[in-house]
Amino acid sequence: MKTENGNRISRRSALKRMGLLVAGAAALGMPALTSCGEETRKRIILYFTGTGNCLYVARELADEHTELLSIPQLVKQGRYALEADEIGIVYPVYGHMPPNMVREFIKKAQLKAKYKFAVLTYGNRKCSSVEIWDEVSRKAGCPFDYITTMIMVDNWLPNFDMNEQVKIDKHIPESLERIRADLAERKRWHESVTELERQQHAGFLQASGVDPETGFLLHSQDAFAITDDCIDCGICTEVCPRGNYSLTSEGVKTEGDCEFCFACIHNCPQKAIRFKQMKEVNPNARYRNEHVSLWSIKESNRQ
Ligand SMILES: Cc1cc2nc3c(=O)[nH]c(=O)nc-3n(C[C@H](O)[C@H](O)[C@H](O)COP(=O)(O)O)c2cc1C
Ligand code: SF4
Ligand code: SF4
Repeated sequence: MKTENGNRISRRSALKRMGLLVAGAAALGMPALTSCGEETRKRIILYFTGTGNCLYVARELADEHTELLSIPQLVKQGRYALEADEIGIVYPVYGHMPPNMVREFIKKAQLKAKYKFAVLTYGNRKCSSVEIWDEVSRKAGCPFDYITTMIMVDNWLPNFDMNEQVKIDKHIPESLERIRADLAERKRWHESVTELERQQHAGFLQASGVDPETGFLLHSQDAFAITDDCIDCGICTEVCPRGNYSLTSEGVKTEGDCEFCFACIHNCPQKAIRFKQMKEVNPNARYRNEHVSLWSIKESNRQ
């Protein structure tokens, strides 16, 4: 079997990536055992993704005893009670804050684990995102032992040209190596935040008017327009974690509360989805993480 970037992987790794190995063993009533018969740590990694960075990170932090679970799918199933030795969460920061769906999920979640870790991906400026997650998760009664950030391609189209972003070396293998080592020793640590970063976040809130209690939460009908380039392929109906797109006799329509995750705009093959109010640096450039297929984004987000 081959990965999306062409490397060979075993059936065992493929099952692990699909989250089937641990789930399958559990369904058969089998404990997770190593070949020597010792008990192993079961890890669950929860993720939210628009353009694949967080799914890639979640996969890279998974071992053979890890179950990867998409937050939009858990919300769809109404599944909030999870138990494992270790539970992690990987999400993209939006205005340094968690996506709205991640906030709402953590408020309802009952996560039972000896060790909880969070990895926040960002593209350019993380500011006080670590402290923000600490506060949000504590308020939800679910504090995390380890919180760190990781820089990746910035998918924010109004400020960045995706063709340029992909050329920048963001030292992703080094970040993954550092985080893997920390998790292996169950490090209890929160990445530090400077006073300047706190002030920058406060400045962002003031300038943008974004509500710190909800983060980005828009209406897709106000944010996006669909142009005549649309070919009714239906991709947007499957990649949106809010299920905001539908194919109608009058063409594609979008409506509903919107995370502003950009899964729709980046994954439309015709570049037929456009911002109504914001300009783009390069309207011809779109992004999806090079290791993540469109199929995986659909599997993660389809409603
Ligand atoms: C609405 C929105 C807001 C964002 N805000 C920030 C930000 O404040 N700081 C930053 O460095 N990156 C920001 N980004 C970039 C993403 O956090 C980053 O590209 C992330 O890795 C995307 O993850 P994904 O591919 O899993 O969706 C933002 C992206 C979006 C769509
Ligand atoms: S993904 Fe783009 S081309 Fe396909 S149906 Fe949606 S708007 Fe149209
Ligand atoms: S409409 Fe687009 S930006 Fe909004 S939640 Fe759906 S995929 Fe994300």
